[in-house]
Amino acid sequence: MNFLNRVVVGTLPFVPRPVVRYYSSRYMAGETIDEAVCCVRQLNKEGKLATLDVLGEDITSTDEAILAREQNIQVLHAIARENIDSNLSIKLTSLGLKLGKEFCLENVREILKVARQHNNFVRFDMEDSSCTSDTIEIFRNLQKEFSRIGIVLQAYMRRSEEDVRQLIKTGTNFRLCKGIYKEPPEVAFQKREEVRRNFVKLLDLMLSNRCYVGIATHDSVLTSTALHLTRKLGLQKDRYEFQMLLGVQPELRQKLLRDGHRMRLYVPFGEQWYAYSMRRFKENPEVAGYVFKALFRRNV
Ligand code: FDA
Repeated sequence: MNFLNRVVVGTLPFVPRPVVRYYSSRYMAGETIDEAVCCVRQLNKEGKLATLDVLGEDITSTDEAILAREQNIQVLHAIARENIDSNLSIKLTSLGLKLGKEFCLENVREILKVARQHNNFVRFDMEDSSCTSDTIEIFRNLQKEFSRIGIVLQAYMRRSEEDVRQLIKTGTNFRLCKGIYKEPPEVAFQKREEVRRNFVKLLDLMLSNRCYVGIATHDSVLTSTALHLTRKLGLQKDRYEFQMLLGVQPELRQKLLRDGHRMRLYVPFGEQWYAYSMRRFKENPEVAGYVFKALFRRNV
């Protein structure tokens, strides 16, 4: 952790909540479904798609998991009712992954049934390495029943290449990102260039096997390489999309949009915004560094 990040993380607990809220608001759509809908409506007006994420992981009781399931279902109903262009991203730990695989699978199945009713799509976010195998297992189980679902793979994970090779066999819809959790060197590549190289390798595998990919990065080197790859493979623009986090790299996002590429923004919202922000900052101080930089550069 560099000095600046250490200082930022160390002082965060003393920063008043409204101040944290103000600066994290650039990355989050608010606390309520209405605020999230309003944010997505604005993004849609600007030609952007969205994926909504109800904040909250690390639950400890079945009641909390059921509450999370119901909140996700409400989001799907709201998307349909309000006629906004958004799908849903879910985190399996918030739906009981650590309380029992079967229990979690049932919760996810209930969400997917509602998504199917509204002809919407649900993406399984990928969490830390303790969740990878179980997330993939649940995904593969549900893939037999539901067609409009997709999963995230992380380019820093050494195992991802093998996971891609398995998942392309069923024509999986992927989101590819670098990976945000701190992982040990046995599990994940640590060097920036290694992660980038693996990102390109996995993207090539996915696209050449005709899988739809959400290319989730703000790294302009990777977006250029991805564009080069799509041209080399002769892909139409409806075979992939770029995905970015709300509030990050607005210039790069605009450039890709101007060039006619699909752009989807990840829009987190919910009452748990404070706990969520603090956990993210502690897990990966780089993110806190970004927020600190945002104090000086607020141009979303
Ligand atoms: P990199 O970190 O090199 O960032 C490139 C540049 O973008 C930086 O120099 C900086 O300027 C800017 N930037 C990046 N992140 C920023 C931030 N938070 N705030 C401000 N500026 C920032 N991870 C995971 O493990 N599981 C998941 O399911 C997902 N899902 C997901 C969805 C979407 C749509 C995105 C865009 C990302 C994720 N991620 C994720 C996070 C991902 O793994 C990764 O940690 C971040 O995207 C940062 O990596 P970049 O590829 O952007 O490169």
